[in-house]
Amino acid sequence: MQGNGIQQIAGVQFLDRELARVIEQGLVDVEDVLHREVRGDYEFVTETSLHLIDAGGKRFRPLFTLLAGQVGPRAGSPDLVTAAAVVELIHLATLYHDDVMDSATMRRGAKSANARWDNSVAILTGDYLFAHASRLVADLGPGAVRIIADTFAALVTGQMRETRGPRAGEDPVAHYLTVVAEKTGSLIATSGRYGAMFAGCPPEQVTALRRFGEIIGSAFQVSDDVIDIASETETSGKTPGTDLREGVPTLPMLYAMQGSGVGAARLRELLAAPLTDDDLVDEALGLLRSGDGIDRSRETLGEQARAARAELALLPECPARDALASLTEFVVRRTG
Ligand code: IPE
Ligand code: IPE
Ligand code: MG
Ligand code: MG
Repeated sequence: MQGNGIQQIAGVQFLDRELARVIEQGLVDVEDVLHREVRGDYEFVTETSLHLIDAGGKRFRPLFTLLAGQVGPRAGSPDLVTAAAVVELIHLATLYHDDVMDSATMRRGAKSANARWDNSVAILTGDYLFAHASRLVADLGPGAVRIIADTFAALVTGQMRETRGPRAGEDPVAHYLTVVAEKTGSLIATSGRYGAMFAGCPPEQVTALRRFGEIIGSAFQVSDDVIDIASETETSGKTPGTDLREGVPTLPMLYAMQGSGVGAARLRELLAAPLTDDDLVDEALGLLRSGDGIDRSRETLGEQARAARAELALLPECPARDALASLTEFVVRRTG
């Protein structure tokens, strides 16, 4: 709770106390489902699964499902909590796998599973979480199963597209925007779609919340990529410069490399391959922070925010819509 009486959860501002109470209770229920769901006969896999669940995280996807659910007439449906737990379990599974692929050492302010144990443990834990998400989504019916299957396929396609990089002659910025819509936007889109579906929203509102989710998810990834370069500290719970070290060109890097000055030329040279040398990482970070890549990425964020607001305008006026509007502003502002 902030001093002015406005409550905030994961960047969403709640002006309506009753909405805040309902969402808080929903998130408590989601925690119960997550903890119950990952308990298995073999203690070790329960421990490795609980590692990231208990390390924290914003619970942004389940929050969005619960909020979208407050737009429809069946806002009290228990399916909303199940759907919210499903999207968080899928997200968790992808984090375990992503940290292996990115050789990350930190996640949610804790050691990543691959660093704490090893790659095999991290991969198998991700698979275990995916299996439990699949088990849980079966309770929501075949329509929901098909949606999550398509979503996971899109997410994996995005990760694969990122790994392969743009084809010869393909615009790298367009490639990047496709990657983020797939790897991050797809699951956040489904989070909103599930909320709207299980609360009985009419199809045009389900579509609006799905599209809002895809846009805000992409914007969220852009802001995350800006923070990876702009933040001096480990406030994100991850190590800054990870993308640089892995040779993953993100939007602020792509924009910075488009420049015509000596800085841009040097960046093109430095970013041609993964950077392992700490001095070279620092040099690249310095050039990226002083160039125009960060500002141009913020302009892209502004465009995404406008598109997101247009989707929200298709929803009926209600406290949940206001809360989603505050989220749009947060995603743009969080880059500082
Ligand atoms: C991390 O997602 C992966 C990205 C899409 C950047 P979040 O930033 O939502 O991670 P948690 O769940 O809060 O840890
Ligand atoms: C995360 O991508 C997206 C998914 C997990 C699908 P990134 O690799 O860009 O995210 P962080 O920075 O590790 O959270
Ligand atoms: Mg990563
Ligand atoms: Mg990655």
